[in-house]
Amino acid sequence: MSNWNHKHIIDLSKFSLDDYKTVLELTTRFQDVSTTRSRKLPALQGRLITTLFFESSTRTRSSFELAAKRLSADVQNFSVATSSLSKGETPLDTILTYIAMGADILIIRHDSTNVPNDLAQYIDDNKINTSILNAGDGFHSHPSQGLLDLFTLASFFNPNNPSPESLLNKKITIVGDILHSRVARSNLWSLTGCGADVTLCGPKSLLPDEFSDFVLNPPPGQKNDPITHRGSITINRSLKDALRGSDAVMTLRLQKERMHQNMLTDLDTYHKNYGITHDRLKWCEKKVPVLHPGPVNRGIEISSQILEDDSISLIKNQVSNGIPTRMSLLYLLANRNIADPS
Ligand code: NCD
Repeated sequence: MSNWNHKHIIDLSKFSLDDYKTVLELTTRFQDVSTTRSRKLPALQGRLITTLFFESSTRTRSSFELAAKRLSADVQNFSVATSSLSKGETPLDTILTYIAMGADILIIRHDSTNVPNDLAQYIDDNKINTSILNAGDGFHSHPSQGLLDLFTLASFFNPNNPSPESLLNKKITIVGDILHSRVARSNLWSLTGCGADVTLCGPKSLLPDEFSDFVLNPPPGQKNDPITHRGSITINRSLKDALRGSDAVMTLRLQKERMHQNMLTDLDTYHKNYGITHDRLKWCEKKVPVLHPGPVNRGIEISSQILEDDSISLIKNQVSNGIPTRMSLLYLLANRNIADPS
């Protein structure tokens, strides 16, 4: 834990194997907090954590709020609908207001890519002590979702010791609207970072060929890839071929609000070609778990029957694992130079 040196968490391209290990270990420890009598730890008592969601959210915002409360932090929630944005205040002035109130960590979601990154830059340039935690920016990045998905998969493969090694050489197939998905992008960094081989499956309009090179070059402004040996990324457009030999399947919401017109012929054809159902899962040749970050469009990317089949769906685990995962991230940011939670 002493190696943790991130002031902000913007995307997972900067995560090393040690970072993944630290988050998975801490998440395993924080998982038990929900079964204690008080359901709380005093670790972040007196710290101020602010959620600033400029885009809608059900799971992520509530999960961060609960994670902060479980660590005894003070929590402020900013909501666009009731804010002074409607009086013409700029988002930056709104954010600076919360920094002036003493926020230790700002958890921010915005539909424009790079808003969290630009804000972190502003904070560093002005020598402000606040940390930025990206809760989803445009198509770019959703690191806490990538990490809770990693924890969910590692716990499935290795319940006694969910570690980065649990993912080594596993074949994880991600199906659907990859183009518009910040969740898919974060998962590509984390899964390949832990040595999993990822197969992507979807129509060309939602999965351009360039995705096979996604992790080959660090993003602009980043010199090196902190991971020396990543797993591979393969594109396979036939669901039957993509599922063969998979160890887990992740499907994604068809993000209609982010699409230009005419990206799909129709939803029935999409479901027929890419929808995850019990019948199609047989192509995996063994029983495999299914993940989905939510919110779900029932009967489009996934059947209702899979959603309700707890022997296959890990979706509830993803939601419950989100809390200890986010506790870990808040803990690590708030205690950048302190070693241990106990
Ligand atoms: C995702 C998001 O907002 O990026 N949802 C989530 O955070 N659980 C995925 C989506 O919107 O489809």
